[in-house]
Amino acid sequence: MAEVVDRVADEVLDGVVADVEGDVVLRRGTVSDVPAIRAIGEAVVPSTYGPIDAAYARRMLDEWWSIERLTTLVETFPHVVAEVHGELVGMANLGRTSRAPHRDMGHVADDREIMWKLYVHPRHHGTGVGSRLLAAIEELVEGSELWLEVVDGNDAAVAFYRSRGFEEVERVPGGLLPDDVWFCKQLAPRRRDPSQRPGSSQRSGSPR
Ligand SMILES: CC(C)(COP(=O)(O)OP(=O)(O)OC[C@H]1O[C@@H](n2cnc3c(N)ncnc32)[C@H](O)[C@@H]1OP(=O)(O)O)[C@@H](O)C(=O)NCCC(=O)NCCS
Repeated sequence: MAEVVDRVADEVLDGVVADVEGDVVLRRGTVSDVPAIRAIGEAVVPSTYGPIDAAYARRMLDEWWSIERLTTLVETFPHVVAEVHGELVGMANLGRTSRAPHRDMGHVADDREIMWKLYVHPRHHGTGVGSRLLAAIEELVEGSELWLEVVDGNDAAVAFYRSRGFEEVERVPGGLLPDDVWFCKQLAPRRRDPSQRPGSSQRSGSPR
């Protein structure tokens, strides 16, 4: 089953990610992008999470943005990266709860399709890169819902997601760490039919 899902994701990536608009190029992320993805984390994680909890921000970078974990993630889940003049300026990924490496998702009973990361280098915030990456990830979703979690206190990200159709569903208490706030977006029905996706060999050709 996982192989089938991966093949579909590959086809969709080929369809949506060869996407050039202005100076921004979206393409599939690979293991060779991991050092540049790590550099985005170093640039954006402290400024995003430091004001919420500096120790937590440090831990995120050390654990979840380590070269080893990023490599495992890229090998496990589809990634989309954004480049401007050949420089990697943003990234996003998508994966199911059931295949999540390194995370105890015991509180999640269903098999959610989750955008685990959406990060844009601070120099490029507000230039449309995040919106483009989110749109590409939405094209990869197999079901009708896209889930994500936001660290409580990341108000700019919450405003961004709300304005793009996400609604808060639940909070997972973090104990000594900040809470995780889960958001979900209901996607248009056409996204549930793989034959309607760009890049699918069964595509009907009807306008989207
Ligand atoms: C949130 C984020 C991914 C949005 O990407 P982006 O490329 O800056 O966003 P876009 O240019 O496509 O869209 C701009 C929107 O993002 C909002 N936004 C959120 N954070 C912003 C920031 N730091 N600078 C500028 N705009 C920001 C703006 O209010 C704007 O909203 P509007 O279009 O409704 O007016 C990006 O700002 C980012 O990487 N932030 C830090 C990391 C983070 O919090 N990631 C989400 C983790 S859950």
